[in-house]
Amino acid sequence: MTQSIGVSMKRKEDPRFIRGRGRYLDDIKLPGMLYLALVHSPYPHARIKSIDKSKAMAVPGVKAVITGEDLDAAKLEWLPTFHGYDKQMVLAFGKTLYQYQEVAGVIATSREVAHDAVELVEVEYEPLDPVVDPYQAKEDTIILRDDREPKTNHIYHWEVGDKTATATALDTSAVRIKERIISPRCHPAPLEPCGIVADMNKATGRLTLYMTSRAPHVHRTAFSLVTGIPEDKIHVISPDVGGGFGNKVPVYPGYVVATVASVIIGVPVKWVETRTENLTTTGFARDYHMDVEIGATKEGKVTALRVSTVADHGAFDAAADPRKYPAGMFGIVTGSYDFPAAFAEVDAYFTNKPPGGIAYRCSFRVTEASFAIERGMDLLARKLEMDPVELRRQNFIKKEQFPYSSPLGFTYDSGDYAATMRKALDIIGYEALRKEQAEKRKRGELMGIGISTFTETVGAGPGKQFDILGIKMFDSAEIRIHPTGSGIVRAGTRHQGQGHETTWAQIVGEELGLDPQELLVEEGDTDTAPYGLGTYASRSTPVAGGALALAARRIREKAKKIAAHLLEVAEDDVEWKDYKFGVKGIPDKSVTMKEVAFAAYTNPPPDTEPGLETSYYYDPPNLTFPYGTYIAVVDVDADTGAVKVRRFLAVDDCGTVINPMIVEGQIHGGLAEGFAIAFMQEIKYDEDGNNLNTNFTEYLIPTALETPAWETDRTVTPSPHHPIGAKGVGESPNVGSPQAFVNAVMDALAPLGVTHIDMPLTREKVWRAIRNAS
Ligand code: CDP
Repeated sequence: MTQSIGVSMKRKEDPRFIRGRGRYLDDIKLPGMLYLALVHSPYPHARIKSIDKSKAMAVPGVKAVITGEDLDAAKLEWLPTFHGYDKQMVLAFGKTLYQYQEVAGVIATSREVAHDAVELVEVEYEPLDPVVDPYQAKEDTIILRDDREPKTNHIYHWEVGDKTATATALDTSAVRIKERIISPRCHPAPLEPCGIVADMNKATGRLTLYMTSRAPHVHRTAFSLVTGIPEDKIHVISPDVGGGFGNKVPVYPGYVVATVASVIIGVPVKWVETRTENLTTTGFARDYHMDVEIGATKEGKVTALRVSTVADHGAFDAAADPRKYPAGMFGIVTGSYDFPAAFAEVDAYFTNKPPGGIAYRCSFRVTEASFAIERGMDLLARKLEMDPVELRRQNFIKKEQFPYSSPLGFTYDSGDYAATMRKALDIIGYEALRKEQAEKRKRGELMGIGISTFTETVGAGPGKQFDILGIKMFDSAEIRIHPTGSGIVRAGTRHQGQGHETTWAQIVGEELGLDPQELLVEEGDTDTAPYGLGTYASRSTPVAGGALALAARRIREKAKKIAAHLLEVAEDDVEWKDYKFGVKGIPDKSVTMKEVAFAAYTNPPPDTEPGLETSYYYDPPNLTFPYGTYIAVVDVDADTGAVKVRRFLAVDDCGTVINPMIVEGQIHGGLAEGFAIAFMQEIKYDEDGNNLNTNFTEYLIPTALETPAWETDRTVTPSPHHPIGAKGVGESPNVGSPQAFVNAVMDALAPLGVTHIDMPLTREKVWRAIRNAS
């Protein structure tokens, strides 16, 4: 297996080979289009006593005001959640369950008129006591969801692993740590918020939905199930978007209200969120409160891991939760380490906050798991007075143990964790940094080195374990090669800036010996693309990437028959070598794929169907397990608590690399997000349930000024089961980096006896920890 694919073609050798087109939702303006604006509840928990539409309806240009009662009359008030265990309100009906919950929709001739008329919709509320803290929700003194039985805020209990063996191993361990580690509520905050243009054409009976959705096929199915409109009468088009990061997978009330309005009125209706709507109502991420316990011998060999989690799911259980998906993939919590015993459990609760728990640049709950184990290992190293690098080295799953069966039920495909860490330590100059730190500590200066040697799991499917609305999580590819050897490639995924137009063409070009520049890639149109489950959680390369390679190989199989016909030899004598069909033993007799393509339409063998096209639906046999070693070097100002990230190195291993420049871009972007989560971002609520981070002056986005300079490198350990050995990569930097930053700051504060501070490590929190310690 080569280090990266793309060594054959002129264009692919050039790491700058990137292309793309662009059409954004904002560009879509249709004749007669109306605009939707939503009315939001100021109260996190309140009974709705009445809604008076009359003043809003009297505004010139206002065409309709839609409430939860109207939707209820049309039996459209409740939406199914993707995992199917709960349902969620479209517009608040009877009660509001979180601040900013959508209560009504105003449809008007312009966005401005719609937003102004929102102010005139008079809603009378009777405020109720809110439940903001999941530990308070656990008490069940206030029940939030009247619509459910039994009457409890507890949503589910999930567990995995050997509880008894883990308890015994922990009780008998020579050394033990226990810490509550919180992965706070944060938000993907894509620069372009969510939106839709719903266009019901009453003449044709077809509903066209231009949506920022990253899972257009699933959304079409969901809309069909909810509205009863046959799937063939629904056309979903996902235009390019300004970032998604998991935020654009759920179905939001705005989508449904705009669609209902268009169906009723018979003209296009557009809804585009405001920034505040995006931050306050759409899918949040994380909010896991994890009690992490690790046992070890005095020499530093780990004996057991137990993680008990309280999860805050908000008002509806819209998250992909552990009951159905293996731990929402939380079972990866044993990380890169060979634990003889492990046990993890999650209890989820309703609170008066918006729903979410989405896969923000991660596979559902992998980021939380990775944070827990990497912080836990550092706390253990501190207790053992051991170098965290040495503790990791001693406990890594070894290269020869792959495929590795983890005690929590995953089969890791491949890895060489020690080699990747070695490379990272060499590049960063670990020994020299530790010497420098020792010198600085003598002078009272606070310098820290933080390491994260994470393993994650990406690529949902396989279909036997993963589904959405019961649909297996496969993905698909369709390839059509034209007579002149150019072609069109379609996939069931939909990128949001990850460059599928480049990498999908590269995969197919590589398999077929065709120039990727001459392969047009299309995604995101349900009328043309094959059915797929969409793009999130770094599943595109592990799943659709596999489908593309296998579809191309199907084309090659047929092309081989045609080549034999052209070469006038038996098919068994034809071999695929150096991107051509040759005749075994006769080096100068060959035909190219372009020649074969022409023959497929002009001169196919007598027993062969003309044309050169195929499709492939790929259900992967396993997930893929990318990993990496990240190292942060920080200096902390003892007087102000300011943290300066002096260096940050990411050495990633995502198996075979398709496009080095895109992979590098993915790492850079994800590290910036990991940095923001570690130091700046949290969606906070006050005790009354008010959201304190409703815009970008309160929810901070790092600019080029704050963001550190990234150093990157890689090792390559191909996935043995993926058709081209590739693993996903997009989420690795977000999954792997927050703990490297936090470990570095804790290392800097170690001389003061500070062991843990919850993210985000704001200047104030760090300053307080220093002050309290001294
Ligand atoms: O599902 P999503 O596209 O977000 O994530 P991904 O599969 O990790 O891919 C992100 C981008 O990196 C895509 O353009 C991939 O084809 C590219 N990539 C790559 O070039 N080599 C890999 N081994 C993995 C991803």
